[in-house]
Amino acid sequence: MQVAIDGPAGAGKSTIAKKLAGEAGYIYVDTGAMYRAMALYLIRCGIAPDDRAGIEEACEKADISIKYADGEQQVILNGENVNGLIRTQEVSNMASVSSADPKVREKLVVLQQKLAASADVVMDGRDIGTKVLPEAEVKIYLTASTGVRAKRRYDEMTAKGETCNLEEIEKEIAERDERDMNREISPLKQAEDAVLVDTSYMGIDEVVEAINSIIADKTGK
Ligand code: DC
Repeated sequence: MQVAIDGPAGAGKSTIAKKLAGEAGYIYVDTGAMYRAMALYLIRCGIAPDDRAGIEEACEKADISIKYADGEQQVILNGENVNGLIRTQEVSNMASVSSADPKVREKLVVLQQKLAASADVVMDGRDIGTKVLPEAEVKIYLTASTGVRAKRRYDEMTAKGETCNLEEIEKEIAERDERDMNREISPLKQAEDAVLVDTSYMGIDEVVEAINSIIADKTGK
């Protein structure tokens, strides 16, 4: 069973996908974390986001894999668990640029497809329904308005005691959307057979319920 969830940054994909997977007993695969681990590697190598040749050469040397600890996905970069290091703004911005590179994508898509072949999955990302798992039984395109997504991110950071600026966050989200949706390879778009779920005015449980009923409709389960 494959449930593919795509959508822009801050739409709530990981929260929702994690809940759905937990309830159904499937594994949850956060593909964004893999692109983030790759971005961290590139930053550590001192490669500039616009250095395409540097990105392509370095990405060969990054060995990225996934393991699970207490049901939580852990991303391993060259033997090191980097889960705690990949959620910074610097990594977000690098990932949004380096994920447009065909070599980076090729490498990580193979890993994602292998994981999906090994178990029932809920997988989230940008190109899961369109490219990684085109045969997925259920495809969801999860979105929310830019303003709502920025406010969620702002609340998250403020709750962690970080100082941030709502307008800046909204600007960064809009820039990432622009890059993710307009790149040449595997841009973020709704798959033809995906169901659109706009979470702007929905709570988490409401979204999970809506998707569970889409899954039931599609699979008869
Ligand atoms: O979902 P996220 O914010 O953790 O993703 C980080 C970056 O990785 C995002 O800018 C887009 C990219 N990404 C991608 O290109 N394809 C995916 N399947 C998942 C993420």
